[in-house]
Amino acid sequence: MAINEILEMELKFLLVGGKGGVGKTSVASALAIALAESGKRVLIISTDPAHSVSDSFDLDFSSGEITKVEGVKGELFALEINPEAAGEEISKAIGQQVDSDQFANISAMPGLSELQGFGEDMQSIPPPGMDEALSFAKILEYADDESYDTVVLDTAPTGHTLRLLNIPEFLDSFLGRMLKMKAFLSNAMKMVKSLFGGNQEKDRTIETLEAMKEKVLIARDQLMDPEKTQFVKVMIPTMMSIFETERLVEELNQHMIPHRYVVVNMVNPDNKECQYCTHRRQEHLRNINYINSAFSNDDIISIEAFDREIRGLDMLFEFGKVLL
Ligand SMILES: Nc1ncnc2c1ncn2[C@@H]1O[C@H](COP(=O)(O)OP(=O)(O)OP(=O)(O)O)[C@@H](O)[C@H]1O
Ligand SMILES: [Mg+2]
Repeated sequence: MAINEILEMELKFLLVGGKGGVGKTSVASALAIALAESGKRVLIISTDPAHSVSDSFDLDFSSGEITKVEGVKGELFALEINPEAAGEEISKAIGQQVDSDQFANISAMPGLSELQGFGEDMQSIPPPGMDEALSFAKILEYADDESYDTVVLDTAPTGHTLRLLNIPEFLDSFLGRMLKMKAFLSNAMKMVKSLFGGNQEKDRTIETLEAMKEKVLIARDQLMDPEKTQFVKVMIPTMMSIFETERLVEELNQHMIPHRYVVVNMVNPDNKECQYCTHRRQEHLRNINYINSAFSNDDIISIEAFDREIRGLDMLFEFGKVLL
């Protein structure tokens, strides 16, 4: 079986990841179309500020609202999120109102920054990108929401973002208890102040953290279940892309995210008349041999470079046919 078996599965999340420019958005869009045409109700979400899903479909999904994709049989919806809407999206995800101060608190709190450095040297670890953090928030939002059969994420959370899956353990840890204690104390201070006529607003950090923990526990169950989640690794047949994918696999394994499909995109087509093409193709075929042995447990799908960009529904249909 190849990647088309995903059409028969009951996947809740289809995540697509890989190095920059290898064809992630094209693969995510083509798979979302195929899933919708197979009868699933599908939502494709992009948190890429460059509006690449709109560009891929050659349609406009930039309103920030869920938009039905016309021209596709079945039920396909698209959502492009503006990273500036982060606070609101994260509130939706954890089902609690998080105001901007509180969001700043949560993202800057000792909790999350410590969490990113979980057992490692914090200094050396940059914070997760907002695009990945948002896609993580979307996973939390849809994990216990039945509005769509399958949610396809064009910007899959990886590396540092996946560490957020450790939130439940973190909140139960010493640091997590300290964090809750701090929120409790600030709450108590506010109450004392209010006795003297100050404002009476309540700090809801504890409730927010508890809600987040519950959501992460639900999402984690689904993310680790190969019947519910698959992470599709997209690469091109160059050694640099292969090495990057090997590192990606380590991260995914560490967090137990199922990832059995590899798409090797943009393989140079055969053309005996062109020396450059012949050399590139030979190199690509050698690298594909390596890929076959390095990823021998996976289903590997190779796709040649088309002579045109994959843009607009017609090209996505064509790309999808080769892919599936
Ligand atoms: N097999 C292919 N043949 C020809 N063009 C392709 C192929 N796959 C993808 N492309 C084109 O390559 C470009 C990059 O593809 P795409 O946007 O899907 O990559 P990406 O991995 O999502 O990039 P980014 O990292 O910037 O998000 C696009 O112009 C796309 O149309
Ligand atoms: Mg993209």
